[in-house]
Amino acid sequence: MTDEINMIKSPIPEHLAIIMDGNGRWAKQRGLPRISGHQQGVETVIRVVDACVKQGIRYLSLFAFSSENWGRPRQEIDALMGLLTQFLASQRQKMLDDGVRLRVIGDLSRLSEPIQTALADAERETSQGNALTLILALSYGSRDEIMRAAKQIARQVVEGDLDIDQLDNKTFSLHLDTGDLPEPDLMIRTSGEVRLSNFLLWQAAYAELYFTDVLWPDFDAAELQKALDDYSSRKRRFGLTDEQLQALEEKTN
Ligand code: FPP
Repeated sequence: MTDEINMIKSPIPEHLAIIMDGNGRWAKQRGLPRISGHQQGVETVIRVVDACVKQGIRYLSLFAFSSENWGRPRQEIDALMGLLTQFLASQRQKMLDDGVRLRVIGDLSRLSEPIQTALADAERETSQGNALTLILALSYGSRDEIMRAAKQIARQVVEGDLDIDQLDNKTFSLHLDTGDLPEPDLMIRTSGEVRLSNFLLWQAAYAELYFTDVLWPDFDAAELQKALDDYSSRKRRFGLTDEQLQALEEKTN
């Protein structure tokens, strides 16, 4: 309950999650190849990470490559993986200087070995960062993550390491890729699409949702501020009544 009180009272989300959408349309509007939209999308990632550090946001989750994105043309997949590799190399020192700790979630076994190694190196090198945890969701899909967690749990039950009656929401959460991370408070999706597309479905159960028509390459600190202002004006109830919320607030004042 203490966590809930903190969340009700906090004007800034502790954990912001973003579905970065609209790179392809941004490029198409300009008669450019889709990859130009993704390149511009990486520039936005760099801007938004900076803005989050400045705002004091502690966790930022970015949906960078979904399990379904493996179905895209090979050329686009390769280009996205190339951008990821460049991002890791070019941002390494900046992440260290700014106290950004990198974390990766998703089914990483589907990524190439060099990329897996580069990600593991970046996670290790930045592990002492204590300003912002940047969580990149790669080869990620919520259903896949939940299924992997369910299999781990089933295995523990079969092997006698877990009593099925001990299984509750908290224990289940620990088996997700995000086991040690707080749940998102605010989820933003750009480009006018209004759906979650298999991103953090379990974790976003109580997240505030914010949708904007702005395409990801055009998203910037000012657009982020609009989302944060909107978030701070919302009343988070967590299934409680107004009276209960008021009592909780009075208790903490
Ligand atoms: C959605 O746009 C975006 C993606 C599928 C990939 C997002 C990737 C990046 C921003 C770059 C890589 C990130 C890092 C951290 C290096 P879309 O292609 O679906 O756009 P559309 O819906 O307009 O076609």
